[in-house]
Amino acid sequence: MSLLRLKRHRTLVEKPYFNPIQKYLPVFMRDLKKEARDILEKNWQGNFTLPCEGLYPFQWLWDSGFIAIGWAHLDMEKAKKEISTLLDAQWENGFIPHIIFHNESDTYFPGPDYHCAYLHPKASKKYKSTGITQPPVTGFVLHELYRISKNKGAILLFIEQVIDKVYENHNYFYQNRDPYNEGLVYIYHNWESGTDNSPMWDDIFNTMNSPEYNFERRDTAHVDPEQRPSRREYDHYLHILEIAKKHNYDDEKIAESSPFLVQDPLFNSMLIKSNQSLIELYELIGGKHEKIIQIKKWQEKSIHTFNEKLFDKELGAYIHYDLRNNRSIKYISSSSFAPLFARIPSQIRAQKIVDTLLERFLGKDNYLCASFDTSSDKYNSVKYWRGPVWINLNWILYYGLKDYGFQALAQQVKKDSIELVEKVGFYEYFDPRKEVYTINSRGYGGNNFSWTAALIIDLLNEN
Ligand code: DGY
Repeated sequence: MSLLRLKRHRTLVEKPYFNPIQKYLPVFMRDLKKEARDILEKNWQGNFTLPCEGLYPFQWLWDSGFIAIGWAHLDMEKAKKEISTLLDAQWENGFIPHIIFHNESDTYFPGPDYHCAYLHPKASKKYKSTGITQPPVTGFVLHELYRISKNKGAILLFIEQVIDKVYENHNYFYQNRDPYNEGLVYIYHNWESGTDNSPMWDDIFNTMNSPEYNFERRDTAHVDPEQRPSRREYDHYLHILEIAKKHNYDDEKIAESSPFLVQDPLFNSMLIKSNQSLIELYELIGGKHEKIIQIKKWQEKSIHTFNEKLFDKELGAYIHYDLRNNRSIKYISSSSFAPLFARIPSQIRAQKIVDTLLERFLGKDNYLCASFDTSSDKYNSVKYWRGPVWINLNWILYYGLKDYGFQALAQQVKKDSIELVEKVGFYEYFDPRKEVYTINSRGYGGNNFSWTAALIIDLLNEN
């Protein structure tokens, strides 16, 4: 490491741990629930929760959803506020943006002045936001609030106030993001996937010929660049945004011209799971029969095409489809297992998927579950979505496995998630390799990360 790099590395890693003493206490003396609560309280802004101070200084869509699940265990009013603030930023056409810029901050790039979401005629007039979205978790999050709540009547009253907004969001997807009427919706930016720099996108980026932009990144001031996407990848991210902006974020034009158009199994699983939650919640509330009928129609088509188009028999896994270049993307990632959470595969297919998971992700001695196939030469155990373990994907996997009766494996995913946090703290992502952990190890990305705290609270409350 050069002297400059070493210096930089030091300033990055020496940021104080939120509660440094805790980490060195023996496990039986730690109170993970309290540590998690402290993080959520610290990141609470009065109407939403920061995903991570400095690194992510605004409200993010899927972060908010997972965070609300943690709040539901601690303080249902805050859970409700988190979700209603998010839904308040919905556009007139049902679209929900991936970042809502409630406040000014110079610690993040690209901010509101870069995204210019106002170019779209139906964008929110009340909030500055991005013009891209993120996995549609809000439907199943509402159902989680209902599951966790001790006062079912009160939470149903809240759900009744907001559920139509989630329905409108799903309607937006089926009307605008499914050009061939297949029941599968596309994403047009890797940031929409949530799995930002997954190796999944490499081949698409190679087709793009993106210019080299002049910009100043802020993420690498918070996190070791080794753990973040490369500068060249950022060129691609900006290039896709430039194309969308040129078309004023018009979906039809984006579908015609964006070099990035992907049917993502994680994104579509979140939509399908949320569809199911909406059906159940509408039934609990009563009325709205026409909406239930419509969602059931979406559901039938979506699940059918998902199984037909996104399952790869040779790989034994669900994979992504590149709609722009008309080809399957033949890699396996933790997104490949999300369909279990949405009850998409049959029991026989679920068994095949579990076999693939054990073979490719458990390795000799890995924590479950790496975010990318550990047997691939594109796997990188340190770099953001190219390999590290993420607690939100583990949470999705845990409930999916449990639902199909894979109890022992589900418990292992839960145990591994908790053990990683016990070992290093509430980080954004973690190295899957057990052998690298020592008493001085840290996690990767941001620390005091809200969804890690929120979902660990949920797992600790789960039997
Ligand atoms: C980032 O900036 O890395 C975010 O994940 C984008 O949503």
